[in-house]
Amino acid sequence: MVLQKALLAASRRPALRRAVTGTPATRRVVDRFVAGESLDDAIAAVRALAPDGIAVTLDHLGEDVTDRAQALRTRDAYLAALEALAPLRLGPAAEVSVKLSAFGQALPDGGHDLALELVRPVVEAASAAGTTVTLDMEDHRTVDSTLAAVAELRKEHPATGAVLQSMLHRTVDDAKALAVSGSRVRLVKGAYDEPESVAHQRKRDVDAAYRRSLEILMSGPGYPMVGSHDPAMLQRAHELAAQHSRAANSWEVQMLYGIRPDEQRRLAAAGTRVRAYVPYGADWYGYFMRRLAERPANVAFFLRSLATR
Ligand code: FDA
Repeated sequence: MVLQKALLAASRRPALRRAVTGTPATRRVVDRFVAGESLDDAIAAVRALAPDGIAVTLDHLGEDVTDRAQALRTRDAYLAALEALAPLRLGPAAEVSVKLSAFGQALPDGGHDLALELVRPVVEAASAAGTTVTLDMEDHRTVDSTLAAVAELRKEHPATGAVLQSMLHRTVDDAKALAVSGSRVRLVKGAYDEPESVAHQRKRDVDAAYRRSLEILMSGPGYPMVGSHDPAMLQRAHELAAQHSRAANSWEVQMLYGIRPDEQRRLAAAGTRVRAYVPYGADWYGYFMRRLAERPANVAFFLRSLATR
């Protein structure tokens, strides 16, 4: 827990970012979790997953932008990604995930409006290409703004996806509100260091809360996206799907690129819809540090690779 908190704090420290990203050996470890730095790398990863029947959601890495110019670059990167996906003709099997903080959400004076203005053309381009956009969820201070953006975008593009984090106390209520027809909701445990006032602190409480929200989403008329690598949560999702006689195309499992790839293939082969979250781009530091924080074994792997450089 102490290590996890330290890594999550480090994920937001610019000086450490420079030290870690400047280390050549880091690259080998990062490659396990990130498809590459370029859009071509991302498209190659999509092509490699498709034969196994694994759908994708592409994430152009980046978060916490500090000016409008950067936010515009994020928009353009996503428009380019959608353009590059089009010739693959994967339709809804290739969507994109966006972080509103990369679209300027945190900028003072109108950050929410700016993010909405800049993400809208991405959602429109995705709809025109027959696919969707899911709005990732960041730390708890962003939840109201991000859910409000999803609600706004859903008016014209009802398949725009939301993400809920079971660690937050509010999530059971949010799950109830979002368990409606046509609504796509990815349920995850939550990757940010959150205070006790808003979030469960013990893993078993986060897991119990995950199960509660999973039941709400799987018993409702929406499209649940079960974002987890945890065998217990995945088993529970399958039990609930059977219990509620859900058609196989009415929900999906989502996992991160490079994590439990054998299980991703096994589930897809067995008839479960599976989507991999594929991050790419140069700004991988925050994403990478959150993956280290999730699993002590990843830190050991990272340290070993530095030692054997
Ligand atoms: P848990 O952490 O309990 O892990 C269960 C098992 O999974 C582990 O024992 C291990 O086998 C494997 N595992 C988990 N993490 C691993 C790792 N990093 N490396 C190797 N093995 C690992 N969070 C968020 O706050 N906002 C968001 O928008 C998203 N989006 C998102 C999309 C998708 C598709 C996924 C799968 C996850 C996210 N997350 C997220 C991250 C999420 O909140 C959570 O931090 C991770 O999924 C880890 O939680 P698990 O449910 O996998 O369980």
